[in-house]
Amino acid sequence: MSQNAPGPPLCGPGIRFASNVAVATQINDLAPFVAPRPGILRRPAVEPAEVRLSEVVSALSHALDITEGQPAGHAVRTCVIGMRLAEVLHLTLDERSALFYALLLKDLGCSSNAARLARIFQADDLLLKRAHKVTDWSRGADSALYAFRYARADRHVLARTVQALKVAFTEQGSGRAMTETRCERGADIARQLGLDPMTSEAIRALDEHWDGHGMPYGRAGDQIPLLGRICGLAQTVEVFFTAHGRDAAYAVARKRAGTWFDPGMVAALTAFEDDVAFWGTLQATDQLEFVADLEPRDRVLFADEARLDDVAEAFARVIDAKSPYTARHSAGVASIAVALGRAMGRPDEELVTLRRAALLHDIGKLGISNAILDKPGKLTPEEFAAMRRHTGYTLEILRRVRRFGAFAELAAAHHERLDGTGYHLGLTARDLSPLARILAVADVAEALTAERPYRPALPRDQVLGIMRPQVGSALCPVAFEALAGMNRIPT
Ligand SMILES: [Fe+2]
Ligand SMILES: [Fe+2]
Repeated sequence: MSQNAPGPPLCGPGIRFASNVAVATQINDLAPFVAPRPGILRRPAVEPAEVRLSEVVSALSHALDITEGQPAGHAVRTCVIGMRLAEVLHLTLDERSALFYALLLKDLGCSSNAARLARIFQADDLLLKRAHKVTDWSRGADSALYAFRYARADRHVLARTVQALKVAFTEQGSGRAMTETRCERGADIARQLGLDPMTSEAIRALDEHWDGHGMPYGRAGDQIPLLGRICGLAQTVEVFFTAHGRDAAYAVARKRAGTWFDPGMVAALTAFEDDVAFWGTLQATDQLEFVADLEPRDRVLFADEARLDDVAEAFARVIDAKSPYTARHSAGVASIAVALGRAMGRPDEELVTLRRAALLHDIGKLGISNAILDKPGKLTPEEFAAMRRHTGYTLEILRRVRRFGAFAELAAAHHERLDGTGYHLGLTARDLSPLARILAVADVAEALTAERPYRPALPRDQVLGIMRPQVGSALCPVAFEALAGMNRIPT
């Protein structure tokens, strides 16, 4: 199709509007939506009815990895190590099934303390989290060094010292509170996903230590659930293995046996210390293709349509917890987008896709530092460029999930504009499907409608007034008119 060929109109005959929606008189002004170029905003293909839950969550676990400042594949490799421990320890099938999901989803609560961490240290939370994973924070000297090294890391030594002292004297107890938030949020989301209670308990106990000096509850020994002990050891072994190799991983495990880790677990770890093929394979791949085989065969969980919605809702909670500025943003965008789609007469199956895309559209923000996301002032050009990368991350993350990959491009297009002034691809009207146009309008509307720490929620008329100058040039007039026709903007 040539560049100027007329495409199907955005809202052609048969499109139904709710009765109170003033149908766009601008309909003829609409830039046409041209059939997608290869790779751009295709409609979802027909998918197989049955998909394994592990396939979905293992791919999405990469979003948790980047939130933790870890290389992609951290959770999956942790799962491989933990399931090998389960084999050595002869865990029951039920325990293995619960452990499998705890290992993959151990960091479900990871975004909930990112903003506070960045604020306390006045630094990049991704860097702080990465460094924290290789710090023995149960030792006072190591914690002090960590604070000195990473507090205001980009500033002069004096500013760093002042900030580190501030952390030491005014933030006592913050570490425990942040760990509690993280563990409780993670356990709660696992429960929301309908996973075994043992999975939630393991996630809650992730940072407890064998000697009782862990967090948040200071449980000791057998008070810590068995699966939690395995997760704690497996994640540390993975971090040191990936960063420094097998010998370093075993050295840390042995050094912390009896303090951080159950000595029995560390003994189990030695059972495959010399399995060169195991460690070699772990290093060579991100294990995504193999990890599904580690789920006990007669305990395989499948994700039907309802469960896929649960997964999208659960990860929307992870995304929204990343910043106090966007505490209910993803859920709110989903509500608005579906209401717009319905008012514009989009078919139900499209609304299902639209809702999932809306819930996950900002998943790439998990890879952006809160020092940028929550910065009170104007962003520098470099910070703005970093912020704009979140849609590319959304695309990368969702493309890895077979059942979500079909709407990855739609979700990642929420900052694209009809006139090509958006990002990250600079798409124009001819590339943007009706759903992409709806999502863009819903995203802006929610951002203006929601209460922010620095301002109250804006009333409907003010939201419409702010958006109106962009309508037609950047934002879709039909979607905007559907919004304007609502008595109340849903949130
Ligand atoms: Fe966004
Ligand atoms: Fe957004």
